[in-house]
Amino acid sequence: MNTAEQLTPEQLDATRPQGAEMLRIQDLHAFYGESHILHGVDFDVKRGELVTLLGRNGSGRSTTLKSIMNMVGRRTGSIMVNGNETLGMKPHHIPRLGIGYCPEERGIFASLDVHENLLLPPTVRSDGMTLDEIYTMFPNLYERRRSQGTRLSGGEQQMLAMARILRTGARILLLDEITEGLAPVIVQKLGEVLMMLKERGMTIVLVEQNFRFAAPLADRHFVMDHGQIVEEITAAQLPSRREHLNTMLGV
Ligand SMILES: Nc1ncnc2c1ncn2[C@@H]1O[C@H](COP(=O)(O)OP(=O)(O)O)[C@@H](O)[C@H]1O
Ligand SMILES: [Mg+2]
Repeated sequence: MNTAEQLTPEQLDATRPQGAEMLRIQDLHAFYGESHILHGVDFDVKRGELVTLLGRNGSGRSTTLKSIMNMVGRRTGSIMVNGNETLGMKPHHIPRLGIGYCPEERGIFASLDVHENLLLPPTVRSDGMTLDEIYTMFPNLYERRRSQGTRLSGGEQQMLAMARILRTGARILLLDEITEGLAPVIVQKLGEVLMMLKERGMTIVLVEQNFRFAAPLADRHFVMDHGQIVEEITAAQLPSRREHLNTMLGV
């Protein structure tokens, strides 16, 4: 039974208690054509948690996020989103469970202005952020609301990519390398935005190379290597395992 088509995301959400698993991935294998990329990924994310997926380039972090959105080739295993098995769901049904994906390449439409880009994705819940709230959180987007996608700086594009999924009402955010290539002042602003989103109870999966950015925000870290999770480190364990982590990440 595909419950996602029968219940609204609010109804689905209401059945999930505090501390419930918003995301549970078990024995996930993913393939691009004949290439076997993920080899049994297991992790869970509880409501309101911010977790990171760390790892060297090519370890499978982006593929994990894309697999959750059903944007790779074949997948096996289990991906529970908000209590629903999504492995058999079509890609366009998955955002309706209240999950928003911010891809590494940001996906801003060059020919549309900021305002039009914001309005593009359909809302999935009635309690998403309003345009007023979004423009308050990102004042620079308000100033640039009539600017075309092509004319935005990298930082503005990233803010827009994030803002766009907040309007949909997504409560689980999958964010892929949002700080990549951005100036320190923009990175700091993104950190403030993530703190605000955490305070609003959002559940966040952050793929991040900039560990100094991610460390103070995260509740738990998952380290990936060769398409598997090889380590879980809680925020509390981090100080004593920092050196070990640096070795694993090769930094
Ligand atoms: N579209 C694709 N087709 C084939 N192989 C891919 C594709 N995208 C990524 N890969 C391969 O999958 C592996 C994991 O990539 P990716 O998930 O992007 O890693 P990460 O995000 O951790 O850097 C890499 O070996 C990469 O070359
Ligand atoms: Mg990647």
